[in-house]
Amino acid sequence: MSNTKNIAVLAGDGIGPEVMAEALKVFEVLEKKTGLTVNKTFADIGGIAIDNHGKALPESTLKTCEAADAILFGSVGGPKWEKLPPAEQPERGALLPLRKHFNLYANLRPAIVFRGLAGASPLKAEIIGDELNVLVVRELTGGLYFGKKERGDDWASDNMIYTRAEIERIAHIAFQSARQRGKKLCSIDKANVLTTMVFWREVVTELGKQYPDVTLTHMYVDNAAMQLVRNPRQFDVILAENMFGDILSDEASMIAGSLGMLPSASLAGAPGKEGAFGLFEPSGGSAPDIAGQGIANPIAQILSLGMLFQYAFGMPEVYTQVHNAVQKVLSQGYRTRDILTEGTTLVGTKQMGDLIVKAI
Ligand code: IPM
Ligand code: MN
Repeated sequence: MSNTKNIAVLAGDGIGPEVMAEALKVFEVLEKKTGLTVNKTFADIGGIAIDNHGKALPESTLKTCEAADAILFGSVGGPKWEKLPPAEQPERGALLPLRKHFNLYANLRPAIVFRGLAGASPLKAEIIGDELNVLVVRELTGGLYFGKKERGDDWASDNMIYTRAEIERIAHIAFQSARQRGKKLCSIDKANVLTTMVFWREVVTELGKQYPDVTLTHMYVDNAAMQLVRNPRQFDVILAENMFGDILSDEASMIAGSLGMLPSASLAGAPGKEGAFGLFEPSGGSAPDIAGQGIANPIAQILSLGMLFQYAFGMPEVYTQVHNAVQKVLSQGYRTRDILTEGTTLVGTKQMGDLIVKAI
């Protein structure tokens, strides 16, 4: 494995630059620990790119990403750009084309409740238990999002289409993820109504024969939405098509309490020993209401960096180190405002970053 890596750093809008600054501190420490040399190239994305280059995903930013081994992404969007046509807005204008351009078909969204944080979840503490860790694997470049779109004066349509190859590649990633965790995979569909989803279930079931060590179950999406709040601990890995995964991953992340805690990875391939190209970003948005105040929670951005080492560099042990450092700081009672509870110590964005650096 080459010891030099190129990373595109796209901090974006709102709290993006603030939390990215903390992740970059952690990056430096991890480089020293792993002996990697990482060249970082900074580029504009989202609203700031609209301001500076006239569009949310400029050519120059694409070029920077193309030359990189992975993308570390902050967040995009804000009130300043909300009046633009939807397709030009930072979220859609930058994220969807990036996903398509780099074939980032596998979206991994862990919903983690760290020990001691059950109180931050809107669910009762006994439902969460000591620790909760559910992984949503969402298909990210197919289905309704990218099917044929048509529009007449009095009608409109989106087309949901999945090929066998598209289902198989995302299912492989879900099975392999389950294999490294609790060995349980729940595939979500709506096979009682939709033809695409009957096919989805068939293909996943067939592929499951290659993973006899993973227990495969199937669940209709409406039931899954209900089961996630009734008893989230029954899940280990959840596999879902694009639209269902969009909805269920928001639900799963809310169970974890704060969006400011959750990382995500979008991968262009199965992460073997050499890693795969991917985009790594916090699950929460740009939170313009608290931007610039130094109070945002940098943990999601820092864990996203951990996922970058895990999946893009093939170094899962580094993710574990970061995760444990975060757990340690939380166990010492330090909290940003979004996860503050009685008897804990309030810290700002920078302090939280420094504490995690120290814990690593
Ligand atoms: C997400 C977001 C995006 C999506 C939007 C901003 C296009 O909600 O990453 O989940 O729907 O995929
Ligand atoms: Mn979403």
